[in-house]
Amino acid sequence: MRTGTWSAPGRVNIIGEHTDYSGGFALPFAIAQRTVVRARLRDDGRITATSAGYGTVEFPVATAPGDVTGWGAHVAGVAWALARAGTALTGADLRIDGTVPDGAGLSSSHSLECAVALALTGLHGLDPDRAALVRIVQRAENEYVGAPTGVMDQMASLYGEADRAILVDARHLTAEPVPCEFAAGGLDLLVVDTRSPHRHADGEYGARRRTCREAAEALGVEDLRDVTDFARLTDPVAVRRVRHVVRENARVLDAVELLRAGRVREIGPLLTASHASLRDDYAVSAPELDTAVEAALAAGALGARMIGGGFGGSAIALVDQGDRPAVEAAVRAAFREHGFAGPEFHIARPSRGAGRDGVSRAPS
Ligand code: GLA
Repeated sequence: MRTGTWSAPGRVNIIGEHTDYSGGFALPFAIAQRTVVRARLRDDGRITATSAGYGTVEFPVATAPGDVTGWGAHVAGVAWALARAGTALTGADLRIDGTVPDGAGLSSSHSLECAVALALTGLHGLDPDRAALVRIVQRAENEYVGAPTGVMDQMASLYGEADRAILVDARHLTAEPVPCEFAAGGLDLLVVDTRSPHRHADGEYGARRRTCREAAEALGVEDLRDVTDFARLTDPVAVRRVRHVVRENARVLDAVELLRAGRVREIGPLLTASHASLRDDYAVSAPELDTAVEAALAAGALGARMIGGGFGGSAIALVDQGDRPAVEAAVRAAFREHGFAGPEFHIARPSRGAGRDGVSRAPS
C-alpha cells in the first residue's frame, strides 16, 4: 500500500497502577483522544515525520539508540525496534496530528508509537499480531527513548474497544475486554489534568522497578505477581512497595468482578484505596494529585485516584453526572487555594483502539 492513515488512542487506567512490570494486572481503557498518522511509502531508505506542533525530523530507516533524540526518538525508536524484530522497511513520510494532550499522563507518547508502528507495518503490507507490537513499542520506549516503562499503555491503545475496559495480564500479554459503560449508569469518569509536570518521573519509576525486581528475587518468585506472603522481607521500604503491588493486583480483580456484574458505581472505594496505596506505600503521588483526589471526594465523588506513572499528570474521579459541576468547582477552588496552576477537565469514555482509519475492521 502506498498511502494510508492509521491512528491510536491514549489511555486512562481505571485501576492497577505500577503492577505491569511486576507481571500483574491493570484495567485501562482507550480514550477518544488519538494520535493520527497519515503515511506515504518511500523507497529510498528515509523516514520523515512532521508534526504541526513539533516540526519535521528526518532520518535513515536504520538508526541506533541515541542517533535521534527529542520527539523524533519515539518515531525512530519504533522503526529501530521493528528492524530488530526482522521487519524490512523501505522508508516513509509520516504526517502526525492528534488530540491526546502532552504531559497529562494520558499516554500521548505510547499512542504516537502505536500509530507509527501500525503505519510503518501497514504501508509495507504487514499485519503483525498485536502482542508482537506490544513488545516492539516497549523496546522502542525502553531501549531507544530510554524510558523504562511497561506494557499497559500500549496494550490499552492496541486492544481498546468502545464501552469496554481492558483487563491486561502483563505476564501473559493477554487483553480481555470487560463491559464498562459509565454514562449508562448516570456516571462520568472525570479526568483532572493537574497540569503539573512529571517531576523526577523517570528516575523514580526506574527505582520502583528495581525495588520490585530485588524484592521478587529475595522472595524467590519470578515476579511480585506471585507473592501473597511477604512477611520475610525486612526492609520497611520494600515491604511497603510490595504491599502496594499485592493489594493493587487484588483490587483490579475485584473491580473486574464488579464491572462484569454491572455494579460500576461500586468500584469507587477501590479507586480511593488505590490512591492511598500509591501515595503512602508506593510513594509516587504529588501534592497536586493528592489535592485533586481529596477535593473531588469531599465534593461527592464516589472514588478518585492518580493515574499513570505519577509525580504529576492526571487523576480520575468517578462522579454521578449531576455532581460533576460541583466536583470540578471544588477541585478548581482547592488548586487556587494551594497556588497550583488551573486544572483541566476531560470526560473519559472507553473508545475504539488503534487501527487503520477509513476502513472497517472485521470483528475479531
Ligand atoms: C506508565 C508506564 C506503564 C505503567 C504505569 C504505571 O504509564 O508507561 O507501563 O507502568 O506508568 O502503572
